[in-house]
Amino acid sequence: MQLPELDVLNCEWGATDSLVTRNANVVVADNAWEFGYLLSNDHIDSRIRHTTSDELSLIAIGNPHVLHLIAGLIHQTRLRRVVFCDFNPWQLHHLQRMGTTLIESNDRFEFLQNIFCLKLNDRIRQQLTTLDRPEPFLVKPKWNERKRRQQIEAELWTQGRFDETQFQRQYQCPTRPNVTDKGLHLAIPNAGDISEYLLSVARVDRRRNDPYIFSFFWGQGYLANEDVFQSMRHQLQNLTVSFVVGDICRTLPKLFEILRYEPIALWNSNVFKVHFTRQHLSLLKCYESIARFATQRAPSYPELDMLIFNDLRAKLEIPKSARPLGKLRRRPLSNHSRTFRQVARQLNGEPGLEIVNVQDWIDQDGGVSKLPGLDYCHVDQLDDRLVSSEFGILFFHILRGHGMPGDEWASALRKGVSSGAKIIVLEHFAGSNDRDIQGLGIDPNDVRTVLGEEKSLKWIPGDRSEKRNFLMVFEIPQATPVR
Ligand SMILES: C[S@@+](CC[C@H](N)C(=O)[O-])C[C@H]1O[C@@H](n2cnc3c(N)ncnc32)[C@H](O)[C@@H]1O
Repeated sequence: MQLPELDVLNCEWGATDSLVTRNANVVVADNAWEFGYLLSNDHIDSRIRHTTSDELSLIAIGNPHVLHLIAGLIHQTRLRRVVFCDFNPWQLHHLQRMGTTLIESNDRFEFLQNIFCLKLNDRIRQQLTTLDRPEPFLVKPKWNERKRRQQIEAELWTQGRFDETQFQRQYQCPTRPNVTDKGLHLAIPNAGDISEYLLSVARVDRRRNDPYIFSFFWGQGYLANEDVFQSMRHQLQNLTVSFVVGDICRTLPKLFEILRYEPIALWNSNVFKVHFTRQHLSLLKCYESIARFATQRAPSYPELDMLIFNDLRAKLEIPKSARPLGKLRRRPLSNHSRTFRQVARQLNGEPGLEIVNVQDWIDQDGGVSKLPGLDYCHVDQLDDRLVSSEFGILFFHILRGHGMPGDEWASALRKGVSSGAKIIVLEHFAGSNDRDIQGLGIDPNDVRTVLGEEKSLKWIPGDRSEKRNFLMVFEIPQATPVR
């Protein structure tokens, strides 16, 4: 039996990410985990000093703290999509439930009460607001808040009304939770490496003989203040998300392939901590290859444009160019990656065909397009390919710029129109002052002469010219007569 490459669960909030869903082998999860971590103990700094784009695609371990990271990121930039990954499907279902509960709760207190199955009085609510912070970036203990947090935690559990039956039902919790003045004590044999932990609302520090504390980190991250929470509620509903079940050593390479032209933010929680990489060589190799992909530049491909976020306690070395708070990257992406980023943005997981007229490219690429989800063919085979398969998108990749005569090129474009596909045309610009492409360019009007008015036109800069290439997209209704 062939093992599924990735399991993609349907999302329950936001919109399904068709690019990831279509290209990641959608199959049903059959993993047998029964429980996991209801909250987290990671420490996060989500600040970004610079980014090459205003939109990031977040690939993230699906532990509950990823919500804190998201709050920090959306405070600074836009998220194009989020792909949550975990090898424990229970953990992803739990995250889905947390997101849904967050969206459905009217305010932070309602959310807290729903997550902990706890009713709070006004006095505790008032005390909790004293922990508010102006912004969501840091999620880590603050020394001078320690005592206050301990005291609020104790009051919250002694004075609040905890519904144990509801809690066990809500989380299919295999053992009975035990209310203490340090938080809710859970002894769970089947929760990864940790068999017992304290679930806390406000408290974040741990005394020597205490079990691990997995905290809500009230007053930080997405719970920093009511405005941050409300903005998070609103943004989650509009996020494009997918949930991928599997070991990240297997799933990350595939996701990097699918999203290789996107600026990526990667959240690893503490998975690559030495404690784990020492036990699992595959994790060590995985982190090494992440670091390589994040730093390599042409002629090595893919050139990933990536910011890496680890649990701060893991003290992992992040390559300079992938540090969120690092200085500006010295080596920009190549012309190829910059251009393909624009093309990839038009694809969104639709089945498509890349058409070229340089057989060497197809041979060098082993017959596999560098664009996610696209088939590859020489323009001479276009007729055969259009007869044997249906494509939602046809991408004509610099055919005139590689010597194709105008009449043959126009005829190929017209075949595309008759097939009813969305057409993407990339060509060198005749007016560019880049010497490398002199005499090889055409004008957008040349394309309009064949295909009519475009839906969009994008200029793509090169190293020496602001307008090296242009990318035109045509959505032609099937009934339109071909000129
Ligand atoms: C390493 S665990 C530890 C708990 C963590 N300190 C926290 O606060 O959540 C973090 C998350 O990573 C997931 N995980 C661990 N190793 C993984 C792997 N190789 N692939 C995918 N997910 C993994 C776990 O299921 C869990 O949800």
